[in-house]
Amino acid sequence: MHLPATRTDTLTTRRLTSVAEAAELLRAGKLVAFATETVYGLGVDASDSQAVGRLFRAKGRPSDNPLIVHLANVEDWPLAARELTPAAEALLKAFAPGPLTVVLPKQPAISPRVTAGLDSVGLRIPACPQALELLSATGKPIAAPSANRSGSPSCTTWQSVLEDLDGRIDAVLQGAVSAVGIESTVVDCRGERPILLRPGAVALAQLQSVVPSTIALPTTLPNAMAMRTDTAPGELGAEQSAEAMATSPGMRHPHYRPRAAVRLVESPSEVADALQSYPIVGVAYAGTRVPPRAAEMALVGLFDSAEDYAHGFYEFLRRADRAGAEVILLERVAEAGIGQALRDRQARAAGEDLSW
Ligand code: TXA
Ligand code: MG
Repeated sequence: MHLPATRTDTLTTRRLTSVAEAAELLRAGKLVAFATETVYGLGVDASDSQAVGRLFRAKGRPSDNPLIVHLANVEDWPLAARELTPAAEALLKAFAPGPLTVVLPKQPAISPRVTAGLDSVGLRIPACPQALELLSATGKPIAAPSANRSGSPSCTTWQSVLEDLDGRIDAVLQGAVSAVGIESTVVDCRGERPILLRPGAVALAQLQSVVPSTIALPTTLPNAMAMRTDTAPGELGAEQSAEAMATSPGMRHPHYRPRAAVRLVESPSEVADALQSYPIVGVAYAGTRVPPRAAEMALVGLFDSAEDYAHGFYEFLRRADRAGAEVILLERVAEAGIGQALRDRQARAAGEDLSW
């Protein structure tokens, strides 16, 4: 994992089991990590600029990368946004609470640090019952990036949160393993057509089944990542994409990278070479039979569906790092459903330059 040295106060991170105590700390401007169904989030009062500043330092997060604001109910949207567009309303009706973030015009009460100075805000209602209970008890819009050091894999367990952030945040609310395992889908809902900015647990086809005009940036989806001059139906052209990308500057930063070198493989047969060259190798398989030598020699993650792979993905990267793996091989998943988002995370973990 890439853990840049950043200066921050060292403090004692409390392990909490009480939602009420966690809510009290959030109301007092403290940094509290909590479970969501996608990945763990690091919560802070979104109206408290000073506390938000502490959060950016604790994560070592670049200040131009905006945070998502979390709410307990769709009806609370005026706490974060100035306007609920028809597209956002339709998408939230279909997918909230759940792994969807809609970008809307920002409410002035939200700290400009949360939105990295943008006039827009990402808004999400998580589905995890403990998160909803916490957000209700807090009664405030809570900004929460993924609860990991900036650049390293996201966390799906509270123990992994502590691995990255112990001594840098005020508390972690102990909760369940995140059910989905990868982050929410981010959709800009301000314009005429919703624009998919970050692929996530809700797939493009699902968004389009609710708002058919929804489009993806050419660079947002793996099949559009190769250099192309044409534009497929349902994608933006180069000029519009540049404009849309400028609205989400944080997406350019490196993400999800373990310490080990990551290589993507299309089939398990490519694994043999690596097994001969390195003492410890992590290999994640997408539902295929593991070759017998690999089973003996490597740290193996065997996932029997794309959903299962997404669920275990970040923890597998962390497990391989803990074991001291020099190389992690990831068998690519097919692009259907959550596979779209998982392929994106696999490519980023491998350090591929996705140019956004
Ligand atoms: O599932 C998730 O979304 C998790 C959980 C904790 O909710 N959160 C998460 O936050 O992944 P983070 O900070 O790791 O990623 C937030 C993403 C970034 O890519 C950021 O650029 C984008 O959302 N984003 C946030 N606000 C935005 C805005 N106003 N306009 C465009 N993109 C925005
Ligand atoms: Mg993150």
